[in-house]
Amino acid sequence: MLVPLRPGFAARLENIRAATATETDIATIKAALLDYPVLVLPGQELSADEHIAFGSHFGPLETNAIAGQGYSPGVRAEMLEISNVGDTNVDTEQVARRRQMDLGNRFWHTDGSYKSVPCHLSMLYGIKVAKKDGETQFADMRAGYDAIPDDIKAEIETMVAFHRGSQARVMIGFDKWLDSERAFIDAGAAYKLVRTLPETGRKTIFLSAHAAHIIGMPVPEGRVLLHELTEIATAPAHVYTHRWQIGDLVIYDNRCTMHRLRRYDVEREQRVLRRVATLDMANPSCDPAEIEHNLQGVSDDPTEH
Ligand SMILES: [Fe+2]
Repeated sequence: MLVPLRPGFAARLENIRAATATETDIATIKAALLDYPVLVLPGQELSADEHIAFGSHFGPLETNAIAGQGYSPGVRAEMLEISNVGDTNVDTEQVARRRQMDLGNRFWHTDGSYKSVPCHLSMLYGIKVAKKDGETQFADMRAGYDAIPDDIKAEIETMVAFHRGSQARVMIGFDKWLDSERAFIDAGAAYKLVRTLPETGRKTIFLSAHAAHIIGMPVPEGRVLLHELTEIATAPAHVYTHRWQIGDLVIYDNRCTMHRLRRYDVEREQRVLRRVATLDMANPSCDPAEIEHNLQGVSDDPTEH
């Protein structure tokens, strides 16, 4: 049963057990995602392996260079664990570092937009959730695109943004990188700002806190434009705020949504989520030679610190 949470954008899909999902269940979810690019499947009980198996029904899975490393220890490469909690494998310093790194998630972003193949569907599962605050907000980038004034729409129609792995953390001044995160820091990709979703023909704007500049435009002008577009696209009228319950599995389509974490008391609350994501094979990064060219001359590269 599909219960709209925000009409035309977010819905709750009940009575599906992700751990034992049938082909019919998967087809139901895929169909629902066309109308509701944010879907909440409540009441799940998912082991890490079941979560990965469920995700793989929807396409090839993203792997993470930082999985199993300092950021997300003890999980398979197909999974990211977003946690503010220490365990036997994680010392206090590492927990503090992860908490700081996760501050980057407080900015509106799409998952994996700095990768040569970005994420399509992310599947975020709540294991421990904050009793107060710590919501995840989702913004509808189709409605966001529609809200952009026509003259700006014409201006951005063919623009390409350069995204890089470190950008959101550079923005907050994070610099406690590990050597093992080199691949993450160095990752960069280029994506058109405006896209048409093939299934519905609707236009959408592809933005992210990982977007560092607009290709062919001076960095300051490009960043200001990205900021302005983000402000328009994430107006409250386009936003669904998800208040987490333990066992929620939230599936979102990164092609036409952005999301961000809201603040919570990181000292008193425990918050553990696991994420699996499919790859958006139909929308790979633009020309690598162009990316290479644009990697040069960006002055706040964290590797220069
Ligand atoms: Fe995210």
